Amino acid sequence: MKSWNIVGVVGAGTMGSGIAQVAAQAGCQVWLCDQNPEVLHRSEQALKSILARLVDKGSMTLDQSSAIAKRIVRTTDVAELSTCDVIIEAIVEDLSVKSKLFQTLEGMVSESCILATNTSSLSITALASACSHPHRVIGLHFFNPAPLMALVEVVPALQSAPGLVNDVCDQMAAWGKSPAVAKDTPGFIVNRVARPFYSEALRMADEGLASPADIDASMRAQGFRMGPFELMDLIGHDVNYAVTSTVHAAFYGDSRYRPSHTQRQLVAAQWLGRKTGRGFFEYPVNEPHTGSHGTVVEGVADRILAMLMNEAFDAVFWRVASPEHIDLAMQKGVNYPKGLIAWAEAWGLDRIVEVLDGLHQRYGEERYRCSPLLKERAQTGDRFFNP
Ligand code: NAI
Repeated sequence: MKSWNIVGVVGAGTMGSGIAQVAAQAGCQVWLCDQNPEVLHRSEQALKSILARLVDKGSMTLDQSSAIAKRIVRTTDVAELSTCDVIIEAIVEDLSVKSKLFQTLEGMVSESCILATNTSSLSITALASACSHPHRVIGLHFFNPAPLMALVEVVPALQSAPGLVNDVCDQMAAWGKSPAVAKDTPGFIVNRVARPFYSEALRMADEGLASPADIDASMRAQGFRMGPFELMDLIGHDVNYAVTSTVHAAFYGDSRYRPSHTQRQLVAAQWLGRKTGRGFFEYPVNEPHTGSHGTVVEGVADRILAMLMNEAFDAVFWRVASPEHIDLAMQKGVNYPKGLIAWAEAWGLDRIVEVLDGLHQRYGEERYRCSPLLKERAQTGDRFFNP
């Protein structure tokens, strides 16, 4: 495949700005397009201060930083992107708006130009089907902040050309990223496998088994940088609740992904977390965030981890991704201390089955069913990572 010399990025918000920086740092010529000139201006100012900080820290020279800055050209006119080898779209999360953009792009780019989308929740296949050359469409899901998070989920549409996935993975590796290939299914890898981190924590707090601060402390003790509640407060409950609701709906209401009534209430009250000064915890203005303060409660981490590990095995069972890519994704996309599958195998699969069967018996809910793959491997003793 032709290497990517000229890269287009449409949408210069949080993600588009980060992706443009990554491409420019990899040596590509970048066209960064946004319909809003103020957004482009803000993106330029933000990059300037990021690069200045990198020079101050000694991470790059002044020459390198100015070469990177020069490689990005900003425009409000999408027609300027006609010579691109690839265009990565990071505009509003709306299938009809994205489809319309792809149709416009198809009318001006070369036949070999790849059209990639950074969507987190829409079907890549549905977006490809809006195009007259659907074989060139692919999902390229970066994580926030794109320059710092190594993971990129590479998601082929049903119609993507054979070979496109491997070519795109090679390009991402050349950009210094860690690609993980995911099937075009709701939440891809990370947004699916991570659901229990939030939902099981919310459920335990609702049942009064432990307080949010204690649940946070219990998960930090396992090596997670943040507990579920302080992390949800950081992400924003509006965003976190929307992701859970989308995944839940896309799985036709599977109770394993059921959103939390408590979180919906927080959204209704506009207690969205840090950004509004209050979520599960309070964030007084002008005071540094120190995280939540609780104590470890026995059994809490076991329950959340067992649910997470089960979800990871189930994603392998349904061929969403390979065990290697699932473990890579959770470490490089959301900073998990270990890959869930390797961790599960070190823990002992019997122990996870026991925790889940105990919960299943107690509640009688489908939510706690063991993945067939987990159960089978607990019985056979077959292992992916620790033979
Ligand atoms: P954002 O709201 O910060 O930026 C979107 C930008 O697109 C805005 O500046 C808007 O002016 C521009 N835009 C909208 N329609 C346009 C059009 N037709 N032509 C040109 N520009 C247009 O959004 P954000 O957070 O950067 O998200 C972008 C995409 O990335 C979404 O699909 C989102 O789901 C996805 N995503 C977001 C992540 C996050 O943490 N924010 C993480 C991974 C994916």
